[in-house]
Amino acid sequence: MDFDAIIDRRGTHSMKWDMMEARYGVSPEGGISMWVADMDFPAAAPIRAELDKMSRHGVLGYYGDDTSYLEAIRWWMRNRHGWEVDPAWIFTTHGLVNGVALAIDTFTAPGDGVVLFTPIYHSFARVAEAAGREVVECMLAEDEGRYALDFDRWDAQMKGHEKLLVLSSPHNPGGRVWTRAELEGIRDFCIRHDLLLISDEIHHDLVFPGATHTPFALIEGVEDRLIMMSATTKSFNIAGIHAGNVIIPDADLRARFAGRMAALGIWGNAFGFRLAEAAYSPEGAAWIDALVAYLDGNRRLFDEAIAAIPGVRSMPLEATYLAWVDFSGTGMGEAEVNARVLKQARLAANLGRTFGKGGENFLRFNFAMPRSLVAEAAERLADAFADLQ
Ligand SMILES: Cc1ncc(COP(=O)(O)O)c(C=O)c1O
Repeated sequence: MDFDAIIDRRGTHSMKWDMMEARYGVSPEGGISMWVADMDFPAAAPIRAELDKMSRHGVLGYYGDDTSYLEAIRWWMRNRHGWEVDPAWIFTTHGLVNGVALAIDTFTAPGDGVVLFTPIYHSFARVAEAAGREVVECMLAEDEGRYALDFDRWDAQMKGHEKLLVLSSPHNPGGRVWTRAELEGIRDFCIRHDLLLISDEIHHDLVFPGATHTPFALIEGVEDRLIMMSATTKSFNIAGIHAGNVIIPDADLRARFAGRMAALGIWGNAFGFRLAEAAYSPEGAAWIDALVAYLDGNRRLFDEAIAAIPGVRSMPLEATYLAWVDFSGTGMGEAEVNARVLKQARLAANLGRTFGKGGENFLRFNFAMPRSLVAEAAERLADAFADLQ
């Protein structure tokens, strides 16, 4: 588990490194890529061993018999998250953006409202809008510099056509790990407005010490409206396999979702199944523990550097490796901030406004990379804003 080794990803069809120039005008020659949410670390040993096994065998035919794969998911959820999953509840989709899109397609109609607590991971709005649904942006409030739920305001905002809420739990961006009381508040909000609830828990393994993630399925009174989503991809840095799980405890919702999957002919790819099964193992668990400890060190290093720049602050992250940095205190407009970060510091970071209402003055920085690169990025930011010192 050598997280310090620098691996050159340029020229490997890496979205993060090979598209940074087209997207942000930051050259991979000398620039540092801090946008797409994948990590610059190699996959854990059991995953690579499985890949080697497939390669040595050499035949890459259709995948069949998912019993051991489903059992691995069950084992992981029980051991890491205290949640008992029935294998019959599990669907495998082509990742969770696909899972969210399929759920929107199955459970809502064109013109229906899809509720998002913004700022939030941008692809949810993208797929909902592409499907002709109306995105209802409920802007998160802030409490002592962290995102907070704002039900009174959101209750007043609902018009009655909203059918579904997509929750990011933990939340991307901002890194909140919602407390049990907050999850109960979300349940009550969904009941008040008769919303189905997608709980996208793709970041659930990347939680820092001091915070505890609660799977939404452990909250009572929500089983008949809950669609759980999780994946190995974000935790284990295997997003390229494009596989995720939609887990539906309610029999009626499950039958509807199964019907849609069948109608669209969806079945996963062999790499997705086999590498995910290899990840959900005791060795994989040890790798995650070491990873989170390493990311915690990166988080502290990056936060200290941000805190040293007057007018700039990073939201205290309870989870995820995505620093959410607010530049509004500098008094600079977005163009000025972006010029300094992208052009001067040559850091490719996500633009806050793409995450919806409330993201305007932010940039999101992915620090899941060898620590020496995080230190370099921190130095470049300090230089780019040196005149504020
Ligand atoms: C909350 C959330 N859901 C889903 C995804 C992407 O999922 P997938 O690659 O499985 O489509 C991301 C990626 O950053 C995310 O942050």
